[in-house]
Parts: sequence; structure tokens; C-alpha cells
Amino acid sequence: MDALEAIQSRRSIRRYLEEPIGEPLIEKLLAAAMQAPSARNQQPWHFVVIDDRATLQKIPEFMPNAALVAGAPLAILVCGDLSLEKSEGYWVVDCAAATENLLLAAHALGLGACWCGVYPRPTRMAELRKLLGLPEDVLAHSLVAIGRPAEQHGVENRYRADRVRRNHW
Ligand SMILES: Cc1cc2nc3c(=O)[nH]c(=O)nc-3n(C[C@H](O)[C@H](O)[C@H](O)COP(=O)(O)O)c2cc1C
Repeated sequence: MDALEAIQSRRSIRRYLEEPIGEPLIEKLLAAAMQAPSARNQQPWHFVVIDDRATLQKIPEFMPNAALVAGAPLAILVCGDLSLEKSEGYWVVDCAAATENLLLAAHALGLGACWCGVYPRPTRMAELRKLLGLPEDVLAHSLVAIGRPAEQHGVENRYRADRVRRNHW
């Protein structure tokens, strides 16, 4: 699958087969995430790979928006590390770029994934810090549930000519 095809056909997948995701695939996903652009190439991220069933099942207790994580064999928490920042405030944008890379890589590898929002919700960030033992400088940004897809969604064309201006608003 080429890059444009992956971008155009990616959809959020929220139901997964039980089959675990092996280490080689996990490494490919992480490598894709870390290949993202970042402000001044600061790469201010860390990734917490979560495949412990009990931990995955605890997350929806404080993140009802991530109920799907309980049925996923894997989730990856993308975190920003304030101590690695060279350009203040850009960690959020950098982590979003890494998250999108993760989603696209999952899709290109035949997996299904869904971005579950964490940042900027303080309770979700605090509860994930507690559950996963994140150090003080490390902030939870987004949680990506991943698994072999048990559902499919068609392509949705979102191109809107009325959202585009040329040279001036
Ligand atoms: C910042 C962000 C937060 C999101 N949070 C959630 C979430 O908490 N739970 C969920 O099921 N989907 C979540 N999504 C997925 C969106 O609902 C989804 O991307 C959107 O409906 C478009 O559908 P598509 O991903 O299939 O193209 C989130 C997406 C983004 C970008």
C-alpha cells in the first residue's frame, strides 16, 4: 500500500480479534511513530507499549471514551517528555504527528487502530500517570488501541473545496 492509499483508506477500527500482535510488528509501529517530524527534530516522545490484559481492562474505568481498549490486544500510549523539549510547547504537536504515523503504519500493516484522546484532559492524563507510573516530566498525550481488525469501514471522501482559499482568505 502506498502512502496516499494508506492516508485515503485509513479509518478508526474499534473492534479487534484476540490474536496478539508480535514483537516484529510492534517494532515496526514504533519505528514509524518515531520517524515523524518534530520541531527542531526534538523527538520529545516516549511510548508505553501496553499488552497486559488487566492493565488494558483498567483504562476504561477512568476513560469511558476508550472502552474499546478493553477488547484490544495492544495499546500504545504516546507521551511527551518536557525535559526533551528544545522548543517549548511543541511537544503536543510532535506527539500528534507521531500518533498519526502510528495509525497509518498500523493500517498499512493490515492492523486496525483507533486514537483515544488523552491530552488535554487533566483527569485522563493524571490517571494514566498513576496506572503506568509515568515520571513527572512525562505527559500522556494519546492512547492508540491496536489489533487485527474485526470490523471494516469504507473510504470516506472528506475533501471540501469550500475549506480552501488561495493566496488570501
Ligand atoms: C485527538 C483525537 C481524539 C480521539 N479520541 C477518540 C476517543 O477517545 N475514542 C474514540 O473511539 N475515537 C477517538 N478518536 C477517533 C475519531 O473519532 C475518528 O478519527 C473520527 O471519527 C474520524 O473517523 P476515522 O478515524 O474513521 O477517519 C479520536 C481522534 C482524534 C484525532
